[in-house]
Amino acid sequence: MAKSKPMSYPLMEKLVALSRRRGFLFQSSEIYGAINAVWDYGPLGVELKRNVKNIWWQDMISSRDNIVGMDTAILMHPETWVASGHVQNFHDPMVECRKCKRRYRQDHLPENTVRCPECGDELGEPKQFNLMFKTFLGSTQENAQEIYLRPETAQGIFVNFDNVISSTRLKLPFGIAQMGKSFRNEITTGNFIFRSREFEQMEMEFFIRPEENAHWLEYWAQERLNWFVSLGIRAEKLRLRPHGPDELAHYSTACYDVEYEFPFGFSELEGIADRGAYDLEQHQQHSRKKLQFVDQERGNEKLTPAVIESSAGVDRTVLVLMADAYWEDEANNRVVMRFSPKVAPYKVAVFPLFNKDGMPEMADAIYKKLKKTMPAFYDTAGSIGKRYRRQDEAGTPFCITVDHQSLEDQTVTLRDRDSLEQIRVSADSLIGLLLEKVMG
Ligand code: GAP
Repeated sequence: MAKSKPMSYPLMEKLVALSRRRGFLFQSSEIYGAINAVWDYGPLGVELKRNVKNIWWQDMISSRDNIVGMDTAILMHPETWVASGHVQNFHDPMVECRKCKRRYRQDHLPENTVRCPECGDELGEPKQFNLMFKTFLGSTQENAQEIYLRPETAQGIFVNFDNVISSTRLKLPFGIAQMGKSFRNEITTGNFIFRSREFEQMEMEFFIRPEENAHWLEYWAQERLNWFVSLGIRAEKLRLRPHGPDELAHYSTACYDVEYEFPFGFSELEGIADRGAYDLEQHQQHSRKKLQFVDQERGNEKLTPAVIESSAGVDRTVLVLMADAYWEDEANNRVVMRFSPKVAPYKVAVFPLFNKDGMPEMADAIYKKLKKTMPAFYDTAGSIGKRYRRQDEAGTPFCITVDHQSLEDQTVTLRDRDSLEQIRVSADSLIGLLLEKVMG
């Protein structure tokens, strides 16, 4: 399988190299030559990604009274995608080079491009290419049914609308949220994990009275922009951009994108869309099941609620966190991932200065105690300078070193990743001190 084309943005290339070197991300099935636009998370990457998902769950579901969670299946009845409009509308215009057979999204090429940007030969006629992956359900070819891998998690929520309202006591407005894998057979991929074929989404469908749509669209657009700032992403690199009428998805009447200024320009991180009652109405029509809400507070009025959707990419959030954190500290000859402590894969690393005189024993005891409270890392290999540099690249905000003095007075040095300041603190006070720093 072809490898991704070389990145043309220096920061993206550096992130790919650092990811591989430190274990954030690897290309999928690399030993077989890799598979294009599919990525595996390594030991550091998976911690970063889990932190993003946990914080989202906490902020969108656990901390709110009117939003509940779900975890629906990737495989769904094929009629779902007819009803949602994906079978008819989820296409990108594709052109193929007649000679080298490379494929491009027509809308990504400059207008009136007729020649292949790679080999210069003639491009064929544009075709509509459906982005959904197909697979087969059933054990024998004769009775196998063609189905799709879901291209968004949202439809799992809509088809369960009635199950959720009849098993809970939610009142309008309320939200149903879930996160999980989605799959799209993207024509053009690249820019690392920005656009991949297998990715994760964090989606929340907020059901409202239809006349309240403008208010809730603005509310959620602002909430979601602020959420990215709360992860430690620089506010000046983020913006909210309203969609023009020609950009709207087939289900949407108004939409904002939360965008981040990547090295390749401002690009979408999350969409906040007014989907109206489109999805519930479509599923009612196709399933012939009523998907309505009985508003007991308004004399049992029956209505099909409208929906404001918040749809974020987990992997894109990881990419933004990495791109935003990357810092070449030339004065100190080091690369630092300046993650906010709340998203950092490890919160603290513990080192014995030397591997003798009881230092490893004391450091190991501190590490084991800390590890019960927060993700911690223990390292004895190489010079202390090298160990600090490795943790700088991993984005670990604090390092603790046990030295000769530690053995005498039970104090250790606590090093701050960004300022490089080192203070001496008593080993007993470490957990309280670090929890305060990590929780902000
Ligand atoms: N349910 C609405 C929906 O799926 P979307 O704008 O197509 O809307 C929402 O996708 C988010 O999912 C995007 O903002 C992006 O963060 C993420 N996403 C979409 N396609 C992606 C891909 N191929 N690779 C990585 N992330 C993707």
